[in-house]
Amino acid sequence: MKFFLPFLLIFTTLFLSCASLDIINFRIYITNAIEEDIVFHLQSKWQDLGNHTLAFNQEFDWKFPVKIGTYYKAEFWWGSKFQTISVFNYHIFDVCFNGALFTVQRCYWLVRPDGFYYHVTNDTFPGGWTKSAFWSSKSMA
Ligand SMILES: *[C@@H]1O[C@H](CO)[C@@H](O)[C@H](O)[C@H]1NC(C)=O
Ligand SMILES: *[C@@H]1O[C@H](CO)[C@@H](O)[C@H](O)[C@H]1NC(C)=O
Repeated sequence: MKFFLPFLLIFTTLFLSCASLDIINFRIYITNAIEEDIVFHLQSKWQDLGNHTLAFNQEFDWKFPVKIGTYYKAEFWWGSKFQTISVFNYHIFDVCFNGALFTVQRCYWLVRPDGFYYHVTNDTFPGGWTKSAFWSSKSMA
């Protein structure tokens, strides 16, 4: 009992400082490759990051620490077209995580007239970009 309490205190302190360290960090880039404005609404599991408008070739990026359950989705509007994309989930993590801790991992999204593409580097299109989804023209009545 004499040693137990100090050890408990040390473990608790270590655990809490680890939990608040950002061990794995991502920065996601979304680039609009459509020659018109698009609007997207970004939200995580925990936070609403609001609406953003991107002009042609404009880019939006944000950085976040990855914790268990970290997830971002975005609803995109282009004129009458619409789509909802999981811009960060386990699959995107798998594709873009290079195993490095305490550094920022990057992942790129390219929004094109023919759909949504992601890639671990900002290659010249089509390069290694993978298509995730088409635009949907279903009206959002
Ligand atoms: C975000 O933009 C969409 C599309 O223009 C709109 O329907 C929605 O109401 C906006 N949301 C906010 C919070 O401004
Ligand atoms: C991606 O590469 C293009 C072409 O080199 C460049 O213009 C653009 O700024 C880059 N985008 C990002 C998000 O780094």
